[in-house]
Amino acid sequence: TGAITIDPGYKNSGSCTSNITFLDGEQGILRYRGYSIEDLAEKSNFLEVAYLLIFGELPTAAQIEKFEKDIRKYTLVNEEMKNIIDGFPRTAHPMGVLASLTSALTAFNPKSVNVDNEKEMYEAVCKTMAKFLVIATWTYRKNMGYPLNYYDNTKGYVENFMRLMFELPTGPYKMNPVVVNALDKLFILHADHEQNCSTSTVRMVGSSHAGLFASISSGVSALWGPLHGGANQAVLEMLEAIQKDGGDVEKFLAKAKDKNDPFRLMGFGHRVYKNFDPRARIIKKAADEVLADLGVDDPVLDIAKKLEKAALEDEYFKSRNLYPNVDFYSGIIYRAMGIPTEMFTVLFAIGRLPGWIAQWKEMRVNKEPIGRPRQVYTGSPLRDFTDINNR
Ligand code: CMC
Repeated sequence: TGAITIDPGYKNSGSCTSNITFLDGEQGILRYRGYSIEDLAEKSNFLEVAYLLIFGELPTAAQIEKFEKDIRKYTLVNEEMKNIIDGFPRTAHPMGVLASLTSALTAFNPKSVNVDNEKEMYEAVCKTMAKFLVIATWTYRKNMGYPLNYYDNTKGYVENFMRLMFELPTGPYKMNPVVVNALDKLFILHADHEQNCSTSTVRMVGSSHAGLFASISSGVSALWGPLHGGANQAVLEMLEAIQKDGGDVEKFLAKAKDKNDPFRLMGFGHRVYKNFDPRARIIKKAADEVLADLGVDDPVLDIAKKLEKAALEDEYFKSRNLYPNVDFYSGIIYRAMGIPTEMFTVLFAIGRLPGWIAQWKEMRVNKEPIGRPRQVYTGSPLRDFTDINNR
């Protein structure tokens, strides 16, 4: 087997070849299947991008109509899933509940476990796109004590997200097209990011031929961490903490620079982007537009701007190439839309779902071997067993 190279965090190791997403961290380029993220964010929509990522080409009008129709076929979620939700305390974090519910979907859709042909694969894709959106919103409804909503098959995918979240039995939910458009754009920007932590997890779990739901569930768990998708919640909490503390951004910058303090500037830095995060640029602009349209004057946004400026001028951040990432601004938009902070990472998961599915599918279609890294053992050499009385 030869010498083993150790590369903790896989900073310089590739795990696969992929036709899905191109990323150039030095130049801040991100493309899905060859299309620039800027173009897609401006001209496409989330379901079309999902189709592109999963099936490789932008859909024709007939293809996207069929895809939407096939997703709608599966938007009902088994009533017994509600028993599982009822078992969680209301204080449960939505990401933990979402991971559990996604895994539980396997029990109610046993056919989705073994996908051996194209037809089964397609069915599993549509089911996941349909049911994941519904259960994602249920994690919030349950915590609020609201009745759980069902997908409205007369409305679009992103509109349904807002309805599922906020429509109450007392009357129809008034859709704001500015909010729906901004959310659509945010989902596009989150849709894939090649071999990030959660996507690598999905591919790794799937490489043992675990089913799609089980693989996606592990992706949700990986995304939850504050160094990954959980950063969007952490950013907002950090900005609120700065506000509460009197708004002194320099004090928090100093904390972030202090190597004896575990505090990091949330929403700053990236493993691969070393000049800027192209998604953050688009989101920053969208944040300004949404806030202006909704007439939101958010003091937290002022703190974000102050903090960003100070960090970008600071030698510590400059010398380490630490720039605001996608999570720095997304939370500000979510907050303006009335999304509770605890749900921010769930929105990231909804956006990332097509990427997880596409990468899982690619891994299976390419018949990749089971993921099984090597190690170098650094523990004790052979020792004699000591009887319990002599230890
Ligand atoms: N605040 C202060 N110092 C930082 C930060 C930060 N946010 N990020 C990196 N550094 C420092 C780090 O201490 C190290 O310094 P030194 O060379 O003196 O030891 C240097 O910069 C390199 O950092 P690293 O930890 O080796 O870099 P990494 O590639 O392993 O980590 C990261 C990347 C994103 C985990 C990290 O930058 C971080 O923790 N950022 C804050 C959390 C965050 O915003 N995550 C969202 C990432 S983007 C979207 C997503 O994946 O969800």
